[in-house]
Amino acid sequence: MNPETVTIIGTGYVGLTTAACLAHLGHRVHAMDIDTDKVDALNTGQVPIVEAGIDRLVAEGLSSGRLSFTADYAVVADATITMLCLPTPPKPDGGLDLAYVESAVKRIAPLLSADSIVVTKSTVPVGTHDLVRTWLDRSDAHAVSNPEFLREGTAVEDFLAPDRVVIGAANAAIGERVASLYSRLDTTIMHTDPTSAELIKYAANTFLATKLSFINEMSRLCDHLGADIDSVAAGLGSDHRIGSAFLRPGPGWGGSCFPKDTLGLCHLAQTTDHHLPVTEAAYASNQLQLDHVTCEVERISQRPLSEVSIAVWGATFKAETDDTRDSPALDIVARLTQQGARVTVYDPIAAPETIPARTTEDPYSACTGADILVVLTEWAEFGSVDLDKVAAQLGNPHVYDTRAVIDPAAAEAAGLVLHRLGKPAERRP
Ligand code: UDX
Repeated sequence: MNPETVTIIGTGYVGLTTAACLAHLGHRVHAMDIDTDKVDALNTGQVPIVEAGIDRLVAEGLSSGRLSFTADYAVVADATITMLCLPTPPKPDGGLDLAYVESAVKRIAPLLSADSIVVTKSTVPVGTHDLVRTWLDRSDAHAVSNPEFLREGTAVEDFLAPDRVVIGAANAAIGERVASLYSRLDTTIMHTDPTSAELIKYAANTFLATKLSFINEMSRLCDHLGADIDSVAAGLGSDHRIGSAFLRPGPGWGGSCFPKDTLGLCHLAQTTDHHLPVTEAAYASNQLQLDHVTCEVERISQRPLSEVSIAVWGATFKAETDDTRDSPALDIVARLTQQGARVTVYDPIAAPETIPARTTEDPYSACTGADILVVLTEWAEFGSVDLDKVAAQLGNPHVYDTRAVIDPAAAEAAGLVLHRLGKPAERRP
């Protein structure tokens, strides 16, 4: 492998993971961010995100000298490949705000060395590579799309052992140059055109979100019909054409990608006079799941929500991350409080200021006097709590576990009445 000199623009969880992993693979990486405090902290090995394995890789990169952080755009002059890992926040109409990308591209354009390759990793509307080319305004620079498929919490693992790497380049030799960054990985490199690469990213996330909406619909139906969602998911997922991954029912899907990308794809279609009824329905169905869980809390409590005191475990959109953006847990907390419920939330790592309710620092005090405990995030910690202690704290023994993390036998032994999504057999009158 010929090591490349790479600049990463933006050190969010995608940029930082990409920078640390490429340095780990032997490349020389400068990671650039306009936030000077963050850059200073990173240069001393302080990592601002919760991401398994990232601290070790940043430390390794710094000590090998292959990884450095800077706030100076001029660093791109040294690189053969510059990767854009910038935020693309959603706009109210469902489109994406490309201001950060545009501004960075215009800043780096005059600084790039001849024949530079500018790679977009951020999720961007289909067609953005043409805009990048226009913003670069240089006939000797190349715009390539190389979307990321990193899950928060397992981003390092996903980067180093990907199912595939997608490279969308108009010029095959340029695509091969970008592919060489990944030559040490045991994976399939898919070469395609930039438009298809940009659409693959949207298609992947929207398909996964649709799969989740479907299994969540089945869980609602199980609640109604008396079927068992675990059996249904196992029977469904064992068909290899369907696959068993992403069939865990939950309180709804969220995070910084699925809602944004699903709406983004619908918006993109509308702007070209297309209609995507499946994608629109996947989004709408997710809203129904949030409503369903909220209604179930009231049904199980057997009182109007305005009279109910609720303990909630979990605020992040999934476990192993501190991210509460577009978290279904917080959507449900908001629905419960809007209807007058008194809600107290415990989460192992989410920052209290991101939670719009009273919070506690341990799982037990959240339960003090509560009429029901609702589990909304699948933190492993919730599976090993002292359920006798939980039972002693709760005013009523009801636990509604929407993530199937609590052991039913242990709950029963502690005198708790466990209710689960799509498991009506465990309902009690
Ligand atoms: C997602 C994509 O998986 C990743 O490829 C992409 O690049 C970024 O978006 P992420 O947002 O980190 O990653 O979360 P992911 O692990 O995919 O989960 C998304 C949501 O689905 C979470 O709310 C999670 O709790 C939920 N989920 C996931 C389920 O409810 N059940 C499942 O079986 C899987």
